[in-house]
Amino acid sequence: MEIWRSPLDFRSACEEARRRGARVGLVPTMGALHRGHQTLIEEARKRADFVVVSIFVNPTQFGPNEDFSRYPRDLEGDAAKCAASGARGVFAPAPADMYPPGDETRVRVGATAAGLCGAHRPGHFEGVATVVAKLFALVGPSVALFGRKDYQQLKVIERFTRDLFLPVEVVGVRTVREPDGLAMSSRNAYLSAEARGRALAIPRALAAAARAFEAGERRAGMLTALARGHVAPVATSIDYVDVADADSLAVLGPEEHTPDRALLALAVRIDGARLIDNLVLGED
Ligand code: PAJ
Repeated sequence: MEIWRSPLDFRSACEEARRRGARVGLVPTMGALHRGHQTLIEEARKRADFVVVSIFVNPTQFGPNEDFSRYPRDLEGDAAKCAASGARGVFAPAPADMYPPGDETRVRVGATAAGLCGAHRPGHFEGVATVVAKLFALVGPSVALFGRKDYQQLKVIERFTRDLFLPVEVVGVRTVREPDGLAMSSRNAYLSAEARGRALAIPRALAAAARAFEAGERRAGMLTALARGHVAPVATSIDYVDVADADSLAVLGPEEHTPDRALLALAVRIDGARLIDNLVLGED
């Protein structure tokens, strides 16, 4: 297992692997790795010979009052997990290496990034798309894997990869959950035991909406109200509970009827943690 700090050393190692004829796979992360991240690495191993993981808490995707400085960091523990899951190396640059003095270019995202989390985190997806574009340019991966836990992020990355003709296959991987249903997230570390218990309202909310959908409910407002009813009593605040087109991510109005496949997504704050989760109704 190698740990690269310098972008150019990392690029050389990936170039070398490609020269040997290896298919290179990339798993971008911000570290504090859990089973969800490890599943991405394991899926990458099935699709590529040389799998690299980036661990970089990317400053440009955090707002001024967000958790950039307190985001959990554990490079040593993370590197061990990457090795155990079959990665060949970890790229862990410093912010000044990814954004050196004079850096000013950003990937401008569009409608896919406008609703849901995009409406509550201005600039977030521009920061995500920019850092992922930089990583793609360093690695030249044949395949890059992203979790469906961050469904909007996955769609934004699929979109810009297509729009910029980037020669990368983007693969979405199912959400990995704790046995009690809570989606794994590095931010779950912010929860006290008591708050973690309250957070279980999130998977319950999704399950309740899924049951109603299976029973034939198609009114967007009814589905979101049902989900809201579960999270409202326990959440500190709700950023959104929305139904959207599962591909364009256009948010449906409460009177609109969902198609037979639609995204139900939510973001809530439980004490100091902002948690997101989603389900594709009619598919998941
Ligand atoms: P991070 O939150 O560390 O997530 C890294 C990858 O792991 C993302 O593709 C995310 O969707 C996936 N992931 C997280 N939790 C998961 C779960 N429970 N099941 C399956 N996959 C899961 O997302 C980011 O970092 C950043 O925005 C990044 C893409 C690295 C750009 O900075």
